[in-house]
Amino acid sequence: MALQWTSVLSVGIPELDAEHAEMFERMDRLHDAMLAGDRAEVSRTIAFLREDAVRHLAAEDTLMLALGYPERERHLREHEAFLATVRELARRHDANGPTAVLVHDVEQAVATWVEAHVAVHDVALGAFAREHLRRPTTAERKPA
Ligand SMILES: [Fe+2]
Ligand SMILES: [Fe+2]
Repeated sequence: MALQWTSVLSVGIPELDAEHAEMFERMDRLHDAMLAGDRAEVSRTIAFLREDAVRHLAAEDTLMLALGYPERERHLREHEAFLATVRELARRHDANGPTAVLVHDVEQAVATWVEAHVAVHDVALGAFAREHLRRPTTAERKPA
Protein backbone atom coordinates (compact mmCIF):
# COMPACT_ATOMS: atom_id res chain seq x y z
CA MET A 1 0.00 0.00 0.00
CA ALA A 2 1.60 3.24 -1.14
CA LEU A 3 0.96 6.19 1.12
CA GLN A 4 0.75 9.81 0.22
CA TRP A 5 0.53 12.69 2.63
CA THR A 6 -1.91 15.28 1.34
CA SER A 7 -3.14 18.59 2.75
CA VAL A 8 -6.36 16.81 3.77
CA LEU A 9 -4.24 15.28 6.54
CA SER A 10 -2.85 18.63 7.66
CA VAL A 11 -3.19 19.27 11.37
CA GLY A 12 -2.28 22.91 10.79
CA ILE A 13 0.86 22.84 12.92
CA PRO A 14 3.88 22.99 10.59
CA GLU A 15 6.24 20.88 12.74
CA LEU A 16 3.71 18.07 13.16
CA ASP A 17 2.72 18.22 9.49
CA ALA A 18 6.37 17.91 8.45
CA GLU A 19 6.85 14.92 10.75
CA HIS A 20 3.71 13.22 9.48
CA ALA A 21 4.78 13.85 5.88
CA GLU A 22 8.12 12.24 6.68
CA MET A 23 6.42 9.17 8.17
CA PHE A 24 4.38 8.78 5.01
CA GLU A 25 7.48 9.22 2.87
CA ARG A 26 9.26 6.54 4.90
CA MET A 27 6.40 4.12 4.41
CA ASP A 28 6.39 4.86 0.70
CA ARG A 29 10.15 4.26 0.52
CA LEU A 30 9.74 0.98 2.39
CA HIS A 31 7.04 -0.07 -0.05
CA ASP A 32 9.26 0.71 -3.06
CA ALA A 33 12.20 -1.08 -1.45
CA MET A 34 10.04 -4.12 -0.77
CA LEU A 35 8.96 -4.24 -4.42
CA ALA A 36 12.61 -3.98 -5.46
CA GLY A 37 13.52 -6.84 -3.12
CA ASP A 38 15.64 -4.55 -0.93
CA ARG A 39 15.15 -5.66 2.66
CA ALA A 40 17.82 -3.39 4.17
CA GLU A 41 15.42 -0.45 4.06
CA VAL A 42 13.34 -2.01 6.85
CA SER A 43 16.32 -1.66 9.20
CA ARG A 44 16.33 2.09 8.53
CA THR A 45 12.56 2.19 9.03
CA ILE A 46 12.89 0.45 12.39
CA ALA A 47 15.62 2.90 13.48
CA PHE A 48 13.39 5.79 12.41
CA LEU A 49 10.42 4.40 14.36
CA ARG A 50 12.52 3.86 17.46
CA GLU A 51 13.87 7.41 17.52
CA ASP A 52 12.01 9.95 15.40
CA ALA A 53 8.55 8.44 15.69
CA VAL A 54 8.89 8.03 19.45
CA ARG A 55 10.05 11.66 19.72
CA HIS A 56 7.11 12.76 17.58
CA LEU A 57 4.58 11.07 19.87
CA ALA A 58 6.25 12.64 22.91
CA ALA A 59 6.03 16.09 21.27
CA GLU A 60 2.31 15.57 20.70
CA ASP A 61 1.90 14.69 24.34
CA THR A 62 3.76 17.83 25.40
CA LEU A 63 1.33 19.82 23.26
CA MET A 64 -1.70 18.01 24.73
CA LEU A 65 -0.48 18.71 28.27
CA ALA A 66 0.15 22.37 27.50
CA LEU A 67 -3.35 22.71 26.03
CA GLY A 68 -5.12 20.73 28.75
CA TYR A 69 -6.48 18.70 25.84
CA PRO A 70 -9.66 16.92 26.98
CA GLU A 71 -9.08 13.89 24.71
CA ARG A 72 -5.50 13.37 25.88
CA GLU A 73 -6.04 10.01 27.61
CA ARG A 74 -7.76 8.50 24.60
CA HIS A 75 -5.10 9.87 22.28
CA LEU A 76 -2.33 8.51 24.52
CA ARG A 77 -3.92 5.05 24.54
CA GLU A 78 -3.65 5.09 20.74
CA HIS A 79 0.01 6.09 20.96
CA GLU A 80 0.68 3.38 23.55
CA ALA A 81 -0.82 0.71 21.31
CA PHE A 82 1.38 1.90 18.44
CA LEU A 83 4.50 1.97 20.62
CA ALA A 84 3.79 -1.61 21.69
CA THR A 85 3.60 -2.58 18.01
CA VAL A 86 6.88 -0.76 17.28
CA ARG A 87 8.58 -2.49 20.22
CA GLU A 88 7.44 -5.88 18.98
CA LEU A 89 8.57 -5.18 15.39
CA ALA A 90 11.94 -3.91 16.67
CA ARG A 91 12.33 -7.01 18.84
CA ARG A 92 11.68 -9.25 15.83
CA HIS A 93 14.14 -7.21 13.77
CA ASP A 94 16.84 -7.58 16.41
CA ALA A 95 16.18 -11.30 16.81
CA ASN A 96 15.86 -12.35 13.17
CA GLY A 97 17.09 -9.45 11.02
CA PRO A 98 15.24 -7.90 8.06
CA THR A 99 13.17 -10.89 6.98
CA ALA A 100 10.65 -10.62 4.15
CA VAL A 101 7.79 -11.28 6.54
CA LEU A 102 8.99 -8.49 8.85
CA VAL A 103 9.09 -6.03 5.93
CA HIS A 104 5.53 -7.00 5.10
CA ASP A 105 4.36 -6.70 8.70
CA VAL A 106 6.03 -3.31 9.25
CA GLU A 107 4.44 -1.96 6.13
CA GLN A 108 1.01 -3.27 7.05
CA ALA A 109 0.97 -2.36 10.73
CA VAL A 110 2.70 1.00 10.58
CA ALA A 111 1.18 2.38 7.40
CA THR A 112 -2.35 1.40 8.44
CA TRP A 113 -1.99 2.84 11.94
CA VAL A 114 -0.29 6.08 10.90
CA GLU A 115 -2.80 6.88 8.20
CA ALA A 116 -5.83 6.19 10.41
CA HIS A 117 -4.40 7.89 13.49
CA VAL A 118 -3.31 11.08 11.74
CA ALA A 119 -6.57 11.39 9.80
CA VAL A 120 -8.74 11.16 12.93
CA HIS A 121 -6.86 11.82 16.16
CA ASP A 122 -4.07 14.16 15.08
CA VAL A 123 -6.40 16.22 12.89
CA ALA A 124 -8.74 16.61 15.91
CA LEU A 125 -5.79 17.62 18.12
CA GLY A 126 -4.65 20.11 15.48
CA ALA A 127 -8.10 21.69 15.28
CA PHE A 128 -8.24 22.06 19.08
CA ALA A 129 -4.70 23.47 19.19
CA ARG A 130 -5.41 26.03 16.48
CA GLU A 131 -8.53 27.14 18.29
CA HIS A 132 -6.71 27.53 21.60
CA LEU A 133 -3.37 28.81 20.40
CA ARG A 134 -4.66 31.39 17.97
CA ARG A 135 -3.99 35.03 18.65
CA PRO A 136 -7.01 37.16 19.52
CA THR A 137 -8.36 39.12 16.58
CA THR A 138 -8.33 42.91 16.70
CA ALA A 139 -12.01 42.94 17.65
CA GLU A 140 -11.36 40.59 20.55
CA ARG A 141 -8.43 42.54 21.91
CA LYS A 142 -9.32 44.58 24.94
CA PRO A 143 -8.35 48.22 24.76
CA ALA A 144 -5.34 48.96 26.96
FE1 LIG B 1 1.15 12.38 14.98
FE1 LIG C 1 -1.09 11.36 17.74
